[in-house]
Amino acid sequence: MAKIKSAYFCQSCGYESAKWLGKCPSCNQWNTFVEEVIEKPTAANAAVWKTTVGGTQRVNKPSKLEEIESATEERLPTGDQELDRVLGGGLVPGSVTLIGGEPGIGKSTLMLQLALNIKQKRVLYVSGEESEQQIKMRAERITKTPKADCFILTETSTQNIFKQLEQLEPEILIVDSIQTLHSAHIESTPGSVSQVRECTAELLRFAKETATPVFLIGHITKDGAIAGPKILEHMVDTVLQFEGDRHHIYRILRSIKNRFGAAAELGIYAMHGSGLREVSNPSEVLLSQRDEELSGITIGATIEGARPMVIETQALVSISAYGTPQRSATGFDTKRMNMLLAVLEKRCGFRLSAKDVFLNIAGGIKVEDPAIDLSIIAAIISSHEDIPVSSKICFAAEVGLSGEIRAVNRVEQRILEAEKLGFEQIFISSYNLKGINRDKFKINLVTVSKIEEVFTALFG
Ligand code: TYD
Ligand code: MG
Repeated sequence: MAKIKSAYFCQSCGYESAKWLGKCPSCNQWNTFVEEVIEKPTAANAAVWKTTVGGTQRVNKPSKLEEIESATEERLPTGDQELDRVLGGGLVPGSVTLIGGEPGIGKSTLMLQLALNIKQKRVLYVSGEESEQQIKMRAERITKTPKADCFILTETSTQNIFKQLEQLEPEILIVDSIQTLHSAHIESTPGSVSQVRECTAELLRFAKETATPVFLIGHITKDGAIAGPKILEHMVDTVLQFEGDRHHIYRILRSIKNRFGAAAELGIYAMHGSGLREVSNPSEVLLSQRDEELSGITIGATIEGARPMVIETQALVSISAYGTPQRSATGFDTKRMNMLLAVLEKRCGFRLSAKDVFLNIAGGIKVEDPAIDLSIIAAIISSHEDIPVSSKICFAAEVGLSGEIRAVNRVEQRILEAEKLGFEQIFISSYNLKGINRDKFKINLVTVSKIEEVFTALFG
Protein backbone atom coordinates (compact mmCIF):
# COMPACT_ATOMS: atom_id res chain seq x y z
CA MET A 1 0.00 0.00 0.00
CA ALA A 2 1.29 3.40 -0.91
CA LYS A 3 2.33 5.53 2.01
CA ILE A 4 0.01 8.47 2.63
CA LYS A 5 1.91 11.70 2.39
CA SER A 6 1.04 14.52 4.69
CA ALA A 7 2.37 17.93 5.54
CA TYR A 8 1.57 20.71 7.98
CA PHE A 9 0.02 23.92 6.70
CA CYS A 10 -0.35 27.24 8.42
CA GLN A 11 -4.09 27.93 8.24
CA SER A 12 -3.43 31.61 8.25
CA CYS A 13 -0.94 32.11 5.43
CA GLY A 14 -0.59 28.71 3.78
CA TYR A 15 3.07 28.10 4.75
CA GLU A 16 3.97 24.46 4.31
CA SER A 17 6.20 22.56 6.70
CA ALA A 18 7.23 18.92 7.04
CA LYS A 19 6.77 18.98 10.81
CA TRP A 20 4.47 20.69 13.24
CA LEU A 21 5.54 24.14 14.38
CA GLY A 22 4.19 26.26 17.20
CA LYS A 23 4.86 29.55 15.48
CA CYS A 24 4.61 30.13 11.76
CA PRO A 25 7.96 31.42 10.45
CA SER A 26 6.17 33.17 7.61
CA CYS A 27 3.34 35.11 9.25
CA ASN A 28 4.39 34.80 12.94
CA GLN A 29 0.99 33.47 14.04
CA TRP A 30 0.90 30.97 16.88
CA ASN A 31 -0.71 27.55 16.83
CA THR A 32 -1.95 27.69 13.25
CA PHE A 33 -0.41 24.48 11.87
CA VAL A 34 -2.74 21.65 10.93
CA GLU A 35 -1.78 18.36 9.37
CA GLU A 36 -3.26 17.81 5.94
CA VAL A 37 -2.99 14.77 3.72
CA ILE A 38 -1.56 15.55 0.34
CA GLU A 39 -1.26 13.33 -2.65
CA LYS A 40 0.45 14.36 -5.79
CA PRO A 41 -1.69 13.83 -8.91
CA THR A 42 -0.83 10.57 -10.61
CA ALA A 43 -1.64 9.63 -14.18
CA ALA A 44 -4.53 7.50 -12.98
CA ASN A 45 -6.48 10.19 -11.23
CA ALA A 46 -5.43 13.15 -13.31
CA ALA A 47 -8.71 14.47 -14.59
CA VAL A 48 -7.90 18.13 -14.26
CA TRP A 49 -9.02 20.66 -16.77
CA LYS A 50 -7.24 19.51 -19.92
CA THR A 51 -4.22 21.57 -20.80
CA THR A 52 -4.37 20.21 -24.29
CA VAL A 53 -6.80 21.88 -26.58
CA GLY A 54 -7.55 19.82 -29.66
CA GLY A 55 -5.05 17.17 -28.65
CA THR A 56 -1.90 19.25 -29.04
CA GLN A 57 0.02 20.51 -26.08
CA ARG A 58 0.54 24.22 -26.30
CA VAL A 59 4.09 25.42 -25.72
CA ASN A 60 4.79 29.03 -24.91
CA LYS A 61 7.91 30.64 -26.35
CA PRO A 62 9.51 33.86 -25.21
CA SER A 63 8.64 36.82 -27.40
CA LYS A 64 10.02 40.33 -27.64
CA LEU A 65 7.95 42.83 -25.76
CA GLU A 66 7.92 45.24 -28.70
CA GLU A 67 6.65 42.53 -31.01
CA ILE A 68 3.70 41.65 -28.85
CA GLU A 69 0.57 43.16 -30.27
CA SER A 70 -1.22 45.31 -27.79
CA ALA A 71 -4.80 44.30 -27.70
CA THR A 72 -7.32 46.61 -26.17
CA GLU A 73 -8.92 44.50 -23.52
CA GLU A 74 -12.48 43.81 -24.32
CA ARG A 75 -14.82 44.34 -21.44
CA LEU A 76 -18.11 42.68 -20.90
CA PRO A 77 -20.77 44.82 -19.25
CA THR A 78 -22.35 42.88 -16.41
CA GLY A 79 -25.64 44.72 -16.44
CA ASP A 80 -24.79 46.12 -13.01
CA GLN A 81 -23.14 49.52 -13.16
CA GLU A 82 -21.75 49.41 -9.65
CA LEU A 83 -20.09 46.04 -10.28
CA ASP A 84 -18.74 47.26 -13.63
CA ARG A 85 -17.20 50.25 -11.91
CA VAL A 86 -15.59 48.15 -9.20
CA LEU A 87 -14.20 45.73 -11.78
CA GLY A 88 -12.65 48.67 -13.64
CA GLY A 89 -15.13 48.94 -16.50
CA GLY A 90 -16.65 45.50 -16.94
CA LEU A 91 -15.68 41.86 -16.89
CA VAL A 92 -12.40 40.78 -18.49
CA PRO A 93 -12.44 37.43 -20.33
CA GLY A 94 -10.50 34.77 -18.47
CA SER A 95 -10.34 36.76 -15.26
CA VAL A 96 -10.83 35.17 -11.86
CA THR A 97 -12.56 37.33 -9.28
CA LEU A 98 -12.78 36.46 -5.61
CA ILE A 99 -15.61 37.98 -3.58
CA GLY A 100 -15.24 37.90 0.19
CA GLY A 101 -17.62 38.99 2.89
CA GLU A 102 -19.29 38.05 6.15
CA PRO A 103 -22.06 35.46 6.18
CA GLY A 104 -25.45 36.89 5.26
CA ILE A 105 -24.07 40.07 3.77
CA GLY A 106 -25.41 39.22 0.30
CA LYS A 107 -22.60 37.58 -1.68
CA SER A 108 -24.82 34.83 -3.08
CA THR A 109 -27.54 37.37 -3.85
CA LEU A 110 -25.10 39.61 -5.72
CA MET A 111 -23.81 36.75 -7.82
CA LEU A 112 -27.22 35.28 -8.57
CA GLN A 113 -28.37 38.72 -9.61
CA LEU A 114 -25.42 38.97 -11.96
CA ALA A 115 -26.28 35.56 -13.40
CA LEU A 116 -29.86 36.67 -13.99
CA ASN A 117 -29.16 40.15 -15.30
CA ILE A 118 -26.27 39.69 -17.69
CA LYS A 119 -27.46 39.78 -21.25
CA GLN A 120 -27.19 36.91 -23.71
CA LYS A 121 -24.56 34.95 -21.82
CA ARG A 122 -24.81 31.37 -20.71
CA VAL A 123 -24.08 31.38 -17.00
CA LEU A 124 -23.39 28.41 -14.76
CA TYR A 125 -23.91 28.97 -11.05
CA VAL A 126 -22.27 26.19 -9.05
CA SER A 127 -23.44 26.01 -5.47
CA GLY A 128 -22.02 23.83 -2.75
CA GLU A 129 -24.01 25.57 -0.07
CA GLU A 130 -27.63 25.70 -1.11
CA SER A 131 -30.04 23.36 -2.81
CA GLU A 132 -31.56 24.03 -6.23
CA GLN A 133 -34.88 24.87 -4.56
CA GLN A 134 -33.30 27.44 -2.27
CA ILE A 135 -31.62 29.12 -5.21
CA LYS A 136 -34.85 29.03 -7.20
CA MET A 137 -36.69 30.73 -4.34
CA ARG A 138 -34.06 33.42 -4.13
CA ALA A 139 -34.15 33.93 -7.90
CA GLU A 140 -37.92 34.39 -7.71
CA ARG A 141 -37.47 37.15 -5.16
CA ILE A 142 -34.96 38.88 -7.39
CA THR A 143 -36.72 38.72 -10.73
CA LYS A 144 -40.14 37.79 -12.03
CA THR A 145 -38.95 36.84 -15.49
CA PRO A 146 -36.24 34.20 -15.21
CA LYS A 147 -33.52 34.14 -17.81
CA ALA A 148 -33.45 31.19 -20.19
CA ASP A 149 -29.75 30.40 -20.09
CA CYS A 150 -28.90 30.48 -16.43
CA PHE A 151 -27.91 27.04 -15.16
CA ILE A 152 -27.65 25.88 -11.57
CA LEU A 153 -25.44 22.99 -10.49
CA THR A 154 -25.21 21.73 -6.95
CA GLU A 155 -21.86 19.98 -6.83
CA THR A 156 -18.72 20.17 -4.76
CA SER A 157 -16.24 17.96 -6.59
CA THR A 158 -14.11 19.94 -9.04
CA GLN A 159 -13.69 16.91 -11.29
CA ASN A 160 -17.46 16.60 -11.68
CA ILE A 161 -17.78 20.32 -12.22
CA PHE A 162 -15.23 20.17 -15.03
CA LYS A 163 -17.17 17.34 -16.69
CA GLN A 164 -20.28 19.54 -16.70
CA LEU A 165 -18.29 22.52 -17.90
CA GLU A 166 -17.11 20.60 -20.93
CA GLN A 167 -20.67 19.74 -21.88
CA LEU A 168 -22.36 23.02 -21.11
CA GLU A 169 -19.57 25.39 -22.16
CA PRO A 170 -20.84 28.32 -20.10
CA GLU A 171 -19.65 31.83 -20.87
CA ILE A 172 -19.50 32.80 -17.21
CA LEU A 173 -18.87 30.57 -14.20
CA ILE A 174 -19.84 31.40 -10.63
CA VAL A 175 -18.70 29.22 -7.72
CA ASP A 176 -20.44 29.56 -4.35
CA SER A 177 -18.17 29.04 -2.38
CA ILE A 178 -14.54 28.07 -2.92
CA GLN A 179 -14.36 26.65 0.61
CA THR A 180 -16.97 23.97 -0.14
CA LEU A 181 -15.16 22.56 -3.17
CA HIS A 182 -12.90 19.57 -3.06
CA SER A 183 -10.55 18.09 -5.56
CA ALA A 184 -9.89 14.36 -5.79
CA HIS A 185 -6.16 15.05 -5.98
CA ILE A 186 -5.95 16.15 -2.40
CA GLU A 187 -7.26 14.16 0.48
CA SER A 188 -7.71 16.80 3.09
CA THR A 189 -11.15 18.15 3.96
CA PRO A 190 -12.90 20.89 1.97
CA GLY A 191 -11.98 24.34 3.21
CA SER A 192 -8.48 23.36 4.30
CA VAL A 193 -5.53 25.28 2.94
CA SER A 194 -4.35 22.66 0.47
CA GLN A 195 -7.88 22.00 -0.85
CA VAL A 196 -8.69 25.65 -1.33
CA ARG A 197 -5.37 26.19 -3.06
CA GLU A 198 -5.74 23.20 -5.35
CA CYS A 199 -9.35 23.97 -6.32
CA THR A 200 -8.48 27.59 -7.05
CA ALA A 201 -5.52 26.51 -9.17
CA GLU A 202 -7.74 24.17 -11.19
CA LEU A 203 -10.38 26.84 -11.75
CA LEU A 204 -7.68 29.34 -12.65
CA ARG A 205 -6.40 27.00 -15.31
CA PHE A 206 -9.91 26.57 -16.67
CA ALA A 207 -10.47 30.35 -16.78
CA LYS A 208 -7.22 31.13 -18.55
CA GLU A 209 -7.54 28.39 -21.12
CA THR A 210 -11.13 28.99 -22.10
CA ALA A 211 -11.14 32.78 -21.52
CA THR A 212 -14.20 32.32 -19.33
CA PRO A 213 -14.63 34.81 -16.50
CA VAL A 214 -14.91 33.01 -13.16
CA PHE A 215 -16.31 34.38 -9.91
CA LEU A 216 -15.40 32.69 -6.64
CA ILE A 217 -17.24 33.42 -3.43
CA GLY A 218 -14.99 33.19 -0.38
CA HIS A 219 -15.83 33.06 3.30
CA ILE A 220 -14.06 35.33 5.68
CA THR A 221 -12.64 34.54 9.07
CA LYS A 222 -13.47 36.19 12.39
CA ASP A 223 -10.91 38.93 11.88
CA GLY A 224 -12.11 39.75 8.40
CA ALA A 225 -9.52 38.03 6.21
CA ILE A 226 -10.63 35.70 3.46
CA ALA A 227 -10.60 32.20 4.95
CA GLY A 228 -7.82 30.07 3.64
CA PRO A 229 -4.35 31.07 2.74
CA LYS A 230 -3.30 34.54 1.73
CA ILE A 231 -1.95 32.99 -1.46
CA LEU A 232 -5.55 32.61 -2.59
CA GLU A 233 -5.61 36.38 -2.93
CA HIS A 234 -2.33 36.28 -4.81
CA MET A 235 -3.57 33.67 -7.25
CA VAL A 236 -6.71 35.40 -8.45
CA ASP A 237 -6.84 38.53 -10.61
CA THR A 238 -9.29 40.56 -8.61
CA VAL A 239 -10.30 40.52 -4.97
CA LEU A 240 -13.54 42.22 -4.00
CA GLN A 241 -14.80 42.70 -0.49
CA PHE A 242 -18.51 42.94 0.19
CA GLU A 243 -19.09 44.74 3.44
CA GLY A 244 -21.63 46.66 5.44
CA ASP A 245 -23.61 46.47 8.60
CA ARG A 246 -26.19 43.72 8.44
CA HIS A 247 -28.64 45.89 10.35
CA HIS A 248 -28.44 48.66 7.77
CA ILE A 249 -29.62 48.30 4.23
CA TYR A 250 -26.47 49.66 2.61
CA ARG A 251 -23.74 47.38 1.33
CA ILE A 252 -20.39 48.37 -0.08
CA LEU A 253 -18.45 46.43 -2.67
CA ARG A 254 -14.80 47.39 -2.55
CA SER A 255 -11.97 46.25 -4.78
CA ILE A 256 -8.90 45.35 -2.75
CA LYS A 257 -6.82 44.08 -5.61
CA ASN A 258 -7.46 44.46 -9.31
CA ARG A 259 -5.13 43.49 -12.11
CA PHE A 260 -7.41 45.19 -14.63
CA GLY A 261 -8.31 48.45 -12.96
CA ALA A 262 -7.84 50.76 -10.02
CA ALA A 263 -7.92 49.20 -6.58
CA ALA A 264 -9.93 50.86 -3.81
CA GLU A 265 -12.83 51.38 -6.21
CA LEU A 266 -16.21 51.26 -4.61
CA GLY A 267 -19.79 50.32 -5.42
CA ILE A 268 -22.81 50.91 -3.22
CA TYR A 269 -25.94 48.81 -2.98
CA ALA A 270 -29.07 48.82 -0.91
CA MET A 271 -30.54 45.48 0.17
CA HIS A 272 -34.28 45.37 -0.41
CA GLY A 273 -36.88 42.64 -0.19
CA SER A 274 -36.33 42.01 -3.88
CA GLY A 275 -32.56 41.81 -3.90
CA LEU A 276 -29.75 44.33 -4.11
CA ARG A 277 -30.37 47.66 -5.77
CA GLU A 278 -27.62 49.90 -7.11
CA VAL A 279 -27.19 53.24 -5.39
CA SER A 280 -25.92 55.69 -7.96
CA ASN A 281 -26.26 58.85 -5.85
CA PRO A 282 -24.71 57.85 -2.52
CA SER A 283 -24.51 61.37 -1.09
CA GLU A 284 -28.22 61.90 -1.30
CA VAL A 285 -29.10 58.71 0.52
CA LEU A 286 -26.37 58.93 3.12
CA LEU A 287 -27.43 62.34 4.38
CA SER A 288 -30.25 62.05 6.85
CA GLN A 289 -33.28 64.18 6.29
CA ARG A 290 -33.67 66.47 9.26
CA ASP A 291 -35.80 69.54 9.78
CA GLU A 292 -34.14 71.03 12.79
CA GLU A 293 -30.48 71.61 13.46
CA LEU A 294 -29.01 69.24 16.02
CA SER A 295 -25.73 69.49 17.83
CA GLY A 296 -23.05 66.90 17.15
CA ILE A 297 -23.84 66.42 13.48
CA THR A 298 -21.58 67.64 10.68
CA ILE A 299 -21.05 66.77 7.04
CA GLY A 300 -17.74 65.70 5.53
CA ALA A 301 -16.77 65.43 1.87
CA THR A 302 -14.85 62.23 1.30
CA ILE A 303 -13.59 60.37 -1.74
CA GLU A 304 -14.03 56.62 -1.87
CA GLY A 305 -12.30 55.05 -4.83
CA ALA A 306 -12.77 57.57 -7.58
CA ARG A 307 -16.06 58.81 -6.31
CA PRO A 308 -16.67 61.90 -4.20
CA MET A 309 -19.27 61.37 -1.52
CA VAL A 310 -20.76 63.50 1.17
CA ILE A 311 -21.37 61.76 4.47
CA GLU A 312 -22.73 62.61 7.85
CA THR A 313 -20.49 62.32 10.92
CA GLN A 314 -22.15 62.22 14.31
CA ALA A 315 -20.58 62.66 17.73
CA LEU A 316 -21.91 62.45 21.24
CA VAL A 317 -19.84 63.84 24.09
CA SER A 318 -21.21 63.34 27.59
CA ILE A 319 -19.93 63.38 31.13
CA SER A 320 -18.45 60.04 32.05
CA ALA A 321 -20.24 58.11 34.74
CA TYR A 322 -17.19 55.98 35.52
CA GLY A 323 -13.56 56.73 36.21
CA THR A 324 -12.38 55.62 32.79
CA PRO A 325 -14.19 57.45 30.01
CA GLN A 326 -15.59 55.40 27.17
CA ARG A 327 -14.44 55.98 23.64
CA SER A 328 -16.11 54.23 20.80
CA ALA A 329 -16.33 54.78 17.06
CA THR A 330 -18.49 53.10 14.44
CA GLY A 331 -17.27 53.35 10.86
CA PHE A 332 -14.16 55.28 11.86
CA ASP A 333 -10.78 54.21 13.22
CA THR A 334 -10.80 54.42 17.04
CA LYS A 335 -7.06 55.17 17.17
CA ARG A 336 -7.51 58.11 14.87
CA MET A 337 -10.40 59.36 16.98
CA ASN A 338 -8.20 59.23 20.08
CA MET A 339 -5.54 61.19 18.25
CA LEU A 340 -8.03 63.87 17.25
CA LEU A 341 -9.29 64.07 20.85
CA ALA A 342 -5.73 64.51 22.08
CA VAL A 343 -5.19 67.32 19.58
CA LEU A 344 -8.35 69.05 20.79
CA GLU A 345 -7.29 68.66 24.41
CA LYS A 346 -3.75 69.89 23.93
CA ARG A 347 -4.13 72.57 21.25
CA CYS A 348 -7.52 74.01 22.06
CA GLY A 349 -7.82 73.35 25.76
CA PHE A 350 -11.07 71.40 25.61
CA ARG A 351 -11.36 69.20 28.68
CA LEU A 352 -12.35 65.95 27.05
CA SER A 353 -10.42 63.51 29.20
CA ALA A 354 -13.30 63.11 31.64
CA LYS A 355 -15.91 62.72 28.90
CA ASP A 356 -17.36 59.75 27.09
CA VAL A 357 -17.05 60.20 23.34
CA PHE A 358 -19.04 58.24 20.79
CA LEU A 359 -18.62 58.61 17.06
CA ASN A 360 -20.74 57.30 14.27
CA ILE A 361 -20.66 57.51 10.50
CA ALA A 362 -24.27 57.48 9.34
CA GLY A 363 -25.53 54.76 7.01
CA GLY A 364 -23.33 52.01 8.45
CA ILE A 365 -20.39 52.66 6.15
CA LYS A 366 -16.69 52.71 6.99
CA VAL A 367 -14.53 55.67 6.07
CA GLU A 368 -10.75 55.67 6.02
CA ASP A 369 -10.24 58.94 4.18
CA PRO A 370 -8.37 61.38 6.51
CA ALA A 371 -10.25 64.25 4.84
CA ILE A 372 -13.15 63.74 7.25
CA ASP A 373 -10.94 64.65 10.25
CA LEU A 374 -12.17 68.20 10.28
CA SER A 375 -15.78 67.13 10.08
CA ILE A 376 -15.26 64.76 13.03
CA ILE A 377 -13.54 67.43 15.12
CA ALA A 378 -16.34 69.89 14.40
CA ALA A 379 -18.95 67.26 15.37
CA ILE A 380 -17.17 66.55 18.67
CA ILE A 381 -16.98 70.23 19.60
CA SER A 382 -20.53 70.86 18.46
CA SER A 383 -21.73 68.11 20.81
CA HIS A 384 -19.42 69.20 23.62
CA GLU A 385 -20.65 72.80 23.47
CA ASP A 386 -24.15 71.77 22.49
CA ILE A 387 -24.21 74.25 19.63
CA PRO A 388 -25.44 72.94 16.27
CA VAL A 389 -23.42 73.43 13.10
CA SER A 390 -25.48 74.65 10.16
CA SER A 391 -26.53 71.86 7.82
CA LYS A 392 -25.41 74.02 4.89
CA ILE A 393 -21.74 73.64 5.90
CA CYS A 394 -19.46 70.89 4.67
CA PHE A 395 -15.86 70.03 5.65
CA ALA A 396 -12.92 68.57 3.74
CA ALA A 397 -9.53 68.70 5.47
CA GLU A 398 -7.10 66.59 7.42
CA VAL A 399 -5.98 67.59 10.92
CA GLY A 400 -2.33 67.22 11.94
CA LEU A 401 -0.88 66.54 15.38
CA SER A 402 -0.06 70.17 16.05
CA GLY A 403 -3.58 71.27 15.18
CA GLU A 404 -2.71 72.39 11.68
CA ILE A 405 -5.31 71.96 8.95
CA ARG A 406 -3.73 70.01 6.15
CA ALA A 407 -4.46 69.86 2.47
CA VAL A 408 -6.30 66.84 1.01
CA ASN A 409 -6.11 65.29 -2.43
CA ARG A 410 -8.59 66.00 -5.22
CA VAL A 411 -10.15 68.87 -3.37
CA GLU A 412 -11.87 70.23 -6.47
CA GLN A 413 -13.92 67.09 -6.85
CA ARG A 414 -15.02 67.37 -3.24
CA ILE A 415 -15.96 71.02 -3.63
CA LEU A 416 -17.98 70.27 -6.76
CA GLU A 417 -19.85 67.45 -5.03
CA ALA A 418 -20.72 69.72 -2.09
CA GLU A 419 -21.81 72.43 -4.50
CA LYS A 420 -23.96 70.02 -6.46
CA LEU A 421 -25.76 68.97 -3.29
CA GLY A 422 -26.61 72.53 -2.39
CA PHE A 423 -24.17 73.26 0.44
CA GLU A 424 -23.44 76.94 0.96
CA GLN A 425 -20.00 76.72 2.59
CA ILE A 426 -17.11 74.29 2.53
CA PHE A 427 -14.18 74.45 4.96
CA ILE A 428 -10.87 73.51 3.35
CA SER A 429 -7.21 73.99 4.21
CA SER A 430 -5.64 77.21 2.98
CA TYR A 431 -2.81 75.08 1.60
CA ASN A 432 -5.34 73.53 -0.74
CA LEU A 433 -5.92 76.76 -2.64
CA LYS A 434 -2.85 76.41 -4.82
CA GLY A 435 -3.80 75.79 -8.42
CA ILE A 436 -7.53 76.05 -7.98
CA ASN A 437 -9.59 78.84 -9.37
CA ARG A 438 -11.87 80.19 -6.65
CA ASP A 439 -14.15 82.02 -9.07
CA LYS A 440 -15.12 78.75 -10.69
CA PHE A 441 -17.20 77.72 -7.69
CA LYS A 442 -20.46 79.19 -6.57
CA ILE A 443 -20.09 77.66 -3.10
CA ASN A 444 -18.35 79.79 -0.49
CA LEU A 445 -14.82 78.46 0.22
CA VAL A 446 -13.74 79.03 3.80
CA THR A 447 -10.01 78.51 4.13
CA VAL A 448 -8.43 77.69 7.47
CA SER A 449 -4.91 76.80 8.50
CA LYS A 450 -5.24 76.22 12.25
CA ILE A 451 -7.82 74.42 14.27
CA GLU A 452 -8.58 77.52 16.38
CA GLU A 453 -9.67 79.40 13.25
CA VAL A 454 -12.28 76.74 12.60
CA PHE A 455 -13.90 77.29 15.98
CA THR A 456 -13.90 81.04 15.68
CA ALA A 457 -15.51 80.72 12.27
CA LEU A 458 -18.11 78.20 13.47
CA PHE A 459 -18.98 79.18 17.01
CA GLY A 460 -17.59 82.72 17.30
P1 TYD B 1 -26.93 35.96 1.03
O1 TYD B 1 -26.76 36.36 -0.38
O2 TYD B 1 -27.44 34.59 1.29
O3 TYD B 1 -25.60 36.19 1.85
P2 TYD B 1 -24.21 35.43 1.77
O4 TYD B 1 -24.20 34.59 0.55
O5 TYD B 1 -23.22 36.55 1.77
O6 TYD B 1 -24.11 34.63 3.03
O7 TYD B 1 -27.87 37.06 1.68
C1 TYD B 1 -28.65 36.76 2.72
C2 TYD B 1 -29.31 37.94 3.33
O8 TYD B 1 -29.87 38.85 2.44
C3 TYD B 1 -30.43 37.36 4.15
O9 TYD B 1 -30.26 37.77 5.46
C4 TYD B 1 -31.67 37.88 3.53
C5 TYD B 1 -31.24 39.05 2.74
N1 TYD B 1 -32.02 39.22 1.50
C6 TYD B 1 -32.87 40.30 1.37
O10 TYD B 1 -33.03 41.10 2.28
N2 TYD B 1 -33.56 40.46 0.21
C7 TYD B 1 -33.43 39.59 -0.85
O11 TYD B 1 -34.07 39.77 -1.90
C8 TYD B 1 -32.54 38.48 -0.70
C9 TYD B 1 -32.37 37.50 -1.81
C10 TYD B 1 -31.85 38.35 0.48
MG1 MG C 1 -24.14 32.52 0.45
